[in-house]
Amino acid sequence: MAAREHFGSRFAAVMAMAGSAIGLGNIWRFPYMVGQNGGAAFIIVYLLAAVLLSLPIFMAESIIGRSTHQGTFGAMQTLAPGTKWKWLGLLTVASPLIIMSYYSVVGGWSIEYLLKSLTFGFNKPEVATEFGTFISSTWGPLLAHTAFMATCALIVVFGVKKGIENFSKITTPVLFVLIVIIMVFSCTLPGAYKGIEYLVKPDFSALTGEAVAMAVGQSFFSLSLGVGTILTYASYIKKEENLLSAGIGTSAFDLLFAIIAGFAIMPAVFASGIEPGAGPGLIFETLPFIFSKMAGTMPVVSGIIAILFFVTILFAALTSAISMYETGVAYLTEERHMSRKAAVLLIFAGCWTVGVLCSLSFGPLSGFKLIGNSIFDLLDKFASNILMPFGGILFTVFVGWIMPKPQVKSEITSGKTTMASQVVYSVMYFLIRFVAPVGILAIIISQFVL
Ligand code: PHE
Repeated sequence: MAAREHFGSRFAAVMAMAGSAIGLGNIWRFPYMVGQNGGAAFIIVYLLAAVLLSLPIFMAESIIGRSTHQGTFGAMQTLAPGTKWKWLGLLTVASPLIIMSYYSVVGGWSIEYLLKSLTFGFNKPEVATEFGTFISSTWGPLLAHTAFMATCALIVVFGVKKGIENFSKITTPVLFVLIVIIMVFSCTLPGAYKGIEYLVKPDFSALTGEAVAMAVGQSFFSLSLGVGTILTYASYIKKEENLLSAGIGTSAFDLLFAIIAGFAIMPAVFASGIEPGAGPGLIFETLPFIFSKMAGTMPVVSGIIAILFFVTILFAALTSAISMYETGVAYLTEERHMSRKAAVLLIFAGCWTVGVLCSLSFGPLSGFKLIGNSIFDLLDKFASNILMPFGGILFTVFVGWIMPKPQVKSEITSGKTTMASQVVYSVMYFLIRFVAPVGILAIIISQFVL
């Protein structure tokens, strides 16, 4: 087999994993999920899920990826040759591509908003209502979706090191600084305190079985879990690097980002009178309001922040999308021996087509519902509430019960024998073996019972 590329350092690996994790999931999906599912109580479940369920899945995927240095399908073939586990490998080739299809539509929306910001288009309050008109039109969103997918394809063609690594190292920290600035502004708007209260005062009566499942699904979505993406990225990490600290670092970064995004958006939602449960359009309606308010006192600064914000949000979306893309490309090049270019083109064709249907489901196809959902919502729910938890259970069961214990141990401890690393290993192994699979199963079942 051809020698595989590796991330240059642990910092680069964490940044690339964080680049995959931090994306529209944090900035676009998290705030609207919080708004639709009861605020603070949702956040508490989300935090618990991050530690008890997501971190173990993150570790399980990293262990499989790093120990084999192969993509999902190849890794399962190597670790469990000739068994049914190959289906998990195949499933996790398909699931990120399903996500990619609708993710690209939202990526396209952020391109549109970047263009709007370049013409200082947020300096008027009506811009908040323009979003509905935009997504329900046919050609604009389709063009934007195409532009987003094409950009991803170009980046992925250039390969892991040049394309992905360099890209994520610069944009992620910039986005972080910007979202903090926006948070500070948003929290000081008149009427913002109601939004802050909504985020910190839990009302557990709003917590239905479905809301719990949504919180857990959001945690998986945000950390790119259960679909082999983290597995694939971990396969590019060198043997000497410490996996656990990469996992904890990425998760902490991702959590912080989501919470800050919540505090950037929700106070402005309340200050502007937008409905918190407005759904997928929430940030695209709220941010223009924030920028138009900012423009009242400091028009140039607000214009510049808006441009920088949409540039970096677009980059955050791209670094996540290329990680989904890469999972499929790794399979097609390594297992099907396709050239990188052909693999990229094939995936482009498939995801673009499904994405077209998702995009149209906000406009001409909005009347078409499957099990009560639009095509977009159905794919999103299917991915985060079924594919991701299902993949998560299987990855943790595989590492906890099938892989040889010494191999798992050496991956978690990186061969260290100190007391601390033994304790950490025991806790993590317990979470992987029992807590994560049982917890996720319970949540899947509770959706139907509660
Ligand atoms: N975690 C990404 C985000 O928050 C989305 C993603 C899901 C990326 C699955 C890769 C795989 O935007």
